[in-house]
Amino acid sequence: MEYKNLGGSGLRVSVVGLGCNNFGRRCDQEATSAVVNKALEVGVTLFDTADVYGPRGLSEEYLGVALKDKRREAIIATKFMGPMGDGPLWSGGSRRYIFDAVDASLKRLDTDYIDLYQIHFPDVNTPIAETMRALDDVVRSGKVRYIGCSNFTGWQVVEAQWVARSGHLSEFVSAQNQYNLLDRRIERELVPAANGYGLGVLPYFPLASGFLTGKYKQGETPPEGTRLAAGGGMADRVLNEGNFETLQKLESFADSAGHTMLDLAIGWLASQPHVSSVISGATKPEQVEQNVAAGAWVLNAEEMAKVNEITQRPS
Ligand SMILES: NC(=O)c1ccc[n+]([C@@H]2O[C@H](COP(=O)([O-])OP(=O)(O)OC[C@H]3O[C@@H](n4cnc5c(N)ncnc54)[C@H](OP(=O)(O)O)[C@@H]3O)[C@@H](O)[C@H]2O)c1
Repeated sequence: MEYKNLGGSGLRVSVVGLGCNNFGRRCDQEATSAVVNKALEVGVTLFDTADVYGPRGLSEEYLGVALKDKRREAIIATKFMGPMGDGPLWSGGSRRYIFDAVDASLKRLDTDYIDLYQIHFPDVNTPIAETMRALDDVVRSGKVRYIGCSNFTGWQVVEAQWVARSGHLSEFVSAQNQYNLLDRRIERELVPAANGYGLGVLPYFPLASGFLTGKYKQGETPPEGTRLAAGGGMADRVLNEGNFETLQKLESFADSAGHTMLDLAIGWLASQPHVSSVISGATKPEQVEQNVAAGAWVLNAEEMAKVNEITQRPS
């Protein structure tokens, strides 16, 4: 396993991390512990969850149990901002809410510090200066080690970092956004902002919910028990003709280079200098093992150019 600094911070994270949004939903406690144990065994250190996963806290609870005697081996990243109850006092980026939310996450995770505390989405109803000040306070209190953002645009990152810098407050060290071989939109604005202001990128949906493993076949019913077999909005967005066409080109390129589609999906992200950790989700221990192995493919310039050609990006 390779380890990289998380943005401009001194925190070193495994280049393949573990997304935890299946925990409490598709994985019960036993399945969660099996996946987490395997992840630790193969060198994963970064575990990404959120208060809203599970739903409403269950992912944090299951992760806390799974990491109980191994807390020092893990870097726990969680998030606040999404609704944890009904009404205006149970979500957001206000000072009042952040102080409550951090304590609630610590309790569910059964730990006394969070390594990386991320704002899940921008809060248009709260001045960013209030959010950054409150985050700085939870860092200074010792409850949180580092802070990050998620689903921010480039200008929102720049605004937040300037507010933090000019007020001598803790700055974001990471930006978590949707990023994979089918969706490279963040390269236009967010990635340059992250590079300029010391944030490492944590790509979410790195496998496009499993589509980029190649396990879904055009014209065939999704394999039983898989995420996209359940249907719904995600399946509608991902399982379309254009994506299958791109997938087929990517698969034959990976094959010609002696690799699998999974190697390409994870290896391509891990090879990007701006990506700190590929936080792919998993429902089974063997998936974690495969994902970690996939992260070992470091694409050379020629291979990167070929991917750009297939995904229609200039090299
Ligand atoms: N900040 C945000 O707004 C946001 C939004 C979404 C996600 N996230 C974070 O990003 C993480 C990653 O995203 P994600 O888990 O939703 O999507 P993902 O990593 O793109 O896909 C995960 C799914 O891919 C399948 N998979 C994984 N490894 C596999 C393998 N080796 N072979 C075959 N199938 C494999 C599993 O599907 P099956 O279920 O079919 O086994 C798994 O549930 C999340 O867990 C969460 O921590 C953040």
